[in-house]
Amino acid sequence: MGDIGDLLVRLYDLPQDPGLERLAAAGIEVRRALPPERLIVLDWVTRHFGSMWAAEVEMSFSQHPVTIWLAVRDGTLFGFACHDATAKGFFGPTGVDEAARGQGIGEALLFAALRGMREAGYAYAVIGDPGPVEFYRKRLDASVIPKSKPGLYRGMLRPRAEDGAN
Ligand SMILES: CC(C)(COP(=O)(O)OP(=O)(O)OC[C@H]1O[C@@H](n2cnc3c(N)ncnc32)[C@H](O)[C@@H]1OP(=O)(O)O)[C@@H](O)C(=O)NCCC(=O)NCCS
Repeated sequence: MGDIGDLLVRLYDLPQDPGLERLAAAGIEVRRALPPERLIVLDWVTRHFGSMWAAEVEMSFSQHPVTIWLAVRDGTLFGFACHDATAKGFFGPTGVDEAARGQGIGEALLFAALRGMREAGYAYAVIGDPGPVEFYRKRLDASVIPKSKPGLYRGMLRPRAEDGAN
């Protein structure tokens, strides 16, 4: 959980996409997920990021077209980014395999999902409970939404170790 509130992004003002060429040169493709990939992705997200993010991913796989983007190479999943999971107009969650971070995958997924939101008709995206704010603000002119902490997540149940949850 981040320390500040949600971020607002103007989708009609997105900067140029970051270097997708670098990823393509490394053989990494960023694309919208396919419904048959649902269980594979859910299992991966549960193992890497836990059950709450997996629940949000499940929501993104329940939309048509699905609202989740993947970074893949040769059948290996490196990361994902969702929108319209916890709320309409929300970006996230997103995550990259720890071993694959720092190569531009997170940024490419972020921009792919934000472009998807723009194409779906949104003018603004909310980055809910942004976590690494500097990651988002590096390329986006995102503003903090006043009084949005804890916002939508107020009182949300969380997994507890004593219940055997992850
Ligand atoms: C945040 C995350 C998705 C970034 O993925 P990534 O593939 O490492 O990001 P990129 O390589 O595209 O980074 C793009 C830029 O942001 C910077 N950056 C990446 N993660 C950062 C962080 N946590 N804090 C500050 N800056 C960050 C990178 O240094 C890079 O800058 P550069 O272009 O000057 O080199 C990844 O670290 C992650 O999965 N974190 C855990 C899950 C999480 O916090 N998700 C977000 C909340 S929903």
